[in-house]
Amino acid sequence: MQIPTNVEHTLKQMAGSGETLNCYIYDTTAMREKIASLAAMMPAGVEIFYAMKANPHAAFLGAALEGGARGIEIASLGEAEKAVATGFAPDQFIYTGPGKSPEELRWAIENGIRTVHIESLTEAHRLNAIAAARGVYQDVLLRINANFDIHEAQTTFSGGSKKFGVDEEQLDSVLPQILALTHLNFRGLHVYAASGVLNVDDLLKNCDLVFGMAQYIEREYAGARCDTIDFGGGFGVDYLESGRDFDPQAYADGLRALIGRYSFEGRTFFLELGRYLAADSGWFCTEILDIKESRGKKQVICAGGINHFRRPAALAINHPLAIVHMHRAKLFDAQLSVRGESVYFGGPLCTGADKLANDVAIDAADIGDIAVFGLAGAYGLSMSNLEFLSHERPDEVVLG
Ligand SMILES: Cc1ncc(COP(=O)(O)O)c(C=O)c1O
Repeated sequence: MQIPTNVEHTLKQMAGSGETLNCYIYDTTAMREKIASLAAMMPAGVEIFYAMKANPHAAFLGAALEGGARGIEIASLGEAEKAVATGFAPDQFIYTGPGKSPEELRWAIENGIRTVHIESLTEAHRLNAIAAARGVYQDVLLRINANFDIHEAQTTFSGGSKKFGVDEEQLDSVLPQILALTHLNFRGLHVYAASGVLNVDDLLKNCDLVFGMAQYIEREYAGARCDTIDFGGGFGVDYLESGRDFDPQAYADGLRALIGRYSFEGRTFFLELGRYLAADSGWFCTEILDIKESRGKKQVICAGGINHFRRPAALAINHPLAIVHMHRAKLFDAQLSVRGESVYFGGPLCTGADKLANDVAIDAADIGDIAVFGLAGAYGLSMSNLEFLSHERPDEVVLG
């Protein structure tokens, strides 16, 4: 991984303060450019939402707003409040996720959000009762757990027994009940297959499948129309530096062809993207505090571990990693260094699970150097174990 010059420059400046360095650095230039270029290449009717669970920091919400995202995919009231504080209006929100509380649904109704994505019959009834009590009508999409599995994906959201949405096999029993609810306007489907997908054809297969479902519904249920179809997120990034990137142009071309094949022109298609937009706008940077040898392998101990950057351990992958050399004086003559070795990187926590990277080939690293983990803009701090061992929260430094 090549560390961008502005990131390296900032780290060197910060290291001069003498304080242990442990921070995220954000530069959302790439995110803004990605939103603009996706908007230009996607077929008519596609609307891009930022799935803010990837990174709820104001810099990322600001980048989504200024980059021209149509809105925000929220998954909690806390997310909604952060997005409102950045300048998004509630009618730019689409709301997905199982276990929405009555308070959250009430907020959604009272603030007139664009669509609520129904995850179960219980949720449909709860939302309908809240809307009826206020005499309003809420647009909803029905989330389907399709009978389809993308095996290569990092995380799957459909196929098998899942907590997300309603099983495809239950559609014919659930949909008529939702259509009968007086204060919900059924507007279409949400089918999110998987996250971290690099193979465009896998995601297009999901689109094809959802279009087939929409056709089926319109044929079988008089008056039901799927005006809006949400494909979720899922565009992957190349964590393993394999050189295999997600090809958004191929996705756009494939989706355009499918829209034509199904004669679905004039409809609205939501993309709720998190990782693809945010990942390459953030770096987790943590100082190497110790280097030890344990039974033939170097253990590199950093200031922050899974309390600040849990994703590599949670998904059992190494993120791209590079070292910024600080050329610190040795504390003692026999102090260990890493030179052309495959080593383990961990944090300061009292658990063997506190892994940042393993079996990673490093040319050179010394105590006092900074380990910089790339593609850390998405699901970095937001999915970490912040309270575990009560270490100080890492700084989040915004460059652009
Ligand atoms: C409902 C929903 N939408 C969108 C996303 C964003 O997915 P990604 O970061 O893969 O684009 C997620 C991720 O978990 C999700 O659960």
